[in-house]
Amino acid sequence: MTHNLEVFFRPKSIAVVGASKDSRKIGHAALKNILISDYECSLYPVNLKEKEILGLKCFKKVSDIPGKVDLVLISVPAPFVADVLRDCVKKKVKNTIIITSGFSEVGKNDMEEELKQIIDKADMNVLGPNVMGYKNASIGLDASFVYGNPKKGNVALISQSGALGIGMIYLANNEYMGVSKIIGVGNKLDLDDDDLIDYFAQDPDTKVIGLYIEGVKHGRDFMNSIYACNKPILVVKAGKSSAGARAASSHTGSMAGSDKIYEAAIKQAGGIRCRDVVELFDMAKALTGQPPARGNRIGIVTNGGGLGILLTDACEENGLTIPKLSPKTYKKIDKIIPDLVRPNNPVDIVADAGFFRYEAATSALLEDPNIDGVIVASVHGGYARPAEFTGAIIKMIRERKLHEEYKKPILATWVGGREYEDLVIDLKSAGVPIYPSSWRTARSMMALYQEGQRIKKEGKKEAEKKN
Ligand code: COA
Repeated sequence: MTHNLEVFFRPKSIAVVGASKDSRKIGHAALKNILISDYECSLYPVNLKEKEILGLKCFKKVSDIPGKVDLVLISVPAPFVADVLRDCVKKKVKNTIIITSGFSEVGKNDMEEELKQIIDKADMNVLGPNVMGYKNASIGLDASFVYGNPKKGNVALISQSGALGIGMIYLANNEYMGVSKIIGVGNKLDLDDDDLIDYFAQDPDTKVIGLYIEGVKHGRDFMNSIYACNKPILVVKAGKSSAGARAASSHTGSMAGSDKIYEAAIKQAGGIRCRDVVELFDMAKALTGQPPARGNRIGIVTNGGGLGILLTDACEENGLTIPKLSPKTYKKIDKIIPDLVRPNNPVDIVADAGFFRYEAATSALLEDPNIDGVIVASVHGGYARPAEFTGAIIKMIRERKLHEEYKKPILATWVGGREYEDLVIDLKSAGVPIYPSSWRTARSMMALYQEGQRIKKEGKKEAEKKN
């Protein structure tokens, strides 16, 4: 069965109410973004006095447009939004986006209530108010008023903050991470996080779902949607501190609620809580590029003892363990490393390690049935060989696809400067999860472990259903 948001995300005809010839206005930017999208659809500017905008014929009202209108973007001042919405109902429009701000987030609850009453009586999906719109990178449609185009990929992003949502697009591009869709949800008068999670759960272009939320209006629905979703869900929940909660209230009119309750609810439903958007991207990169970890036993390969200890601490702090090597693996590692060190986990392959030691030690750990995932680390200890480290990673992940062969994740980390960064760009653009911090690496491995646990539970749920 087709999901009821399918037309919302793939409209064949779009109208922009409040479209303007004035290039400084939001209605102009929204119309232009759709017009220049690499996506075919009918496009109608709606303006009370203009005959034509950007070469397109103008209409005074949505109901004046001939034929079907699949989606309407509304960018007129708040006092006029209700009338425009009524006109959309008259035209039997099924999907609208209210870009306009100035409702509950500034205490204008009556005006928002008026919109709610119209929506409740109509058979219509409404996004907003107070939103940027969305960008559907999967099909090339930009139905937002903001600039910035995400690289096409398979992470769907839902942001309660428009500006942060846009920042996330640039951050994703910088990290070479592809996005399927990004959508702002603003005041969530109608379409809510749970509706979008349900949609992305069945969206073939989406593998991982990431959310930035300030508050949830329907806690039970939110939890149910996360629980029912068979894809990893990463949640940044802002407003943890009392000052942060106050800021959330004036930003999107959200009640941030008790953080402990959110923490427990997200975990119980099977979501993964992230500290901030950088962590969300770190985890998304791991989840889209690597298999989940079936257990929490991690092997570490490093050319620096200190970095190995930092990784061990970070892993242990995040619910992972660094087990001792099995006798078989001990013997294999003993043949790979110089005599001045003894085999251990973390496996110290010594500062001057080249391509071979990285690859051979990683393979030995992957072969060990007591290891569920491997972290490969390099530190520039003066005579390290950064190109051999990154070369080994590329070979193991891109060419030999060891993570697929062993069904175990491989993550990488480094400590150093430009000499690594320049090389790391190649890895990032090839989709390899590599991080400039032991903590970030451990947190991403933790996300892979939690995903492994979620899949196990999913299997149990399925089995219970069958019995
Ligand atoms: N039907 C058709 N056109 C209408 C209209 C209506 N009912 N009411 C107004 N218009 C036209 C105006 O005449 C104007 O066109 P013009 O430039 O040709 O005169 C255009 O629509 C826009 O109206 P205007 O009064 O100029 O408003 P604006 O563009 O300055 O501001 C908003 C409108 C919606 C952008 C503004 O109220 C707002 O909410 N800004 C914040 C949006 C935001 O940040 N959202 C959240 C992002 S995360």
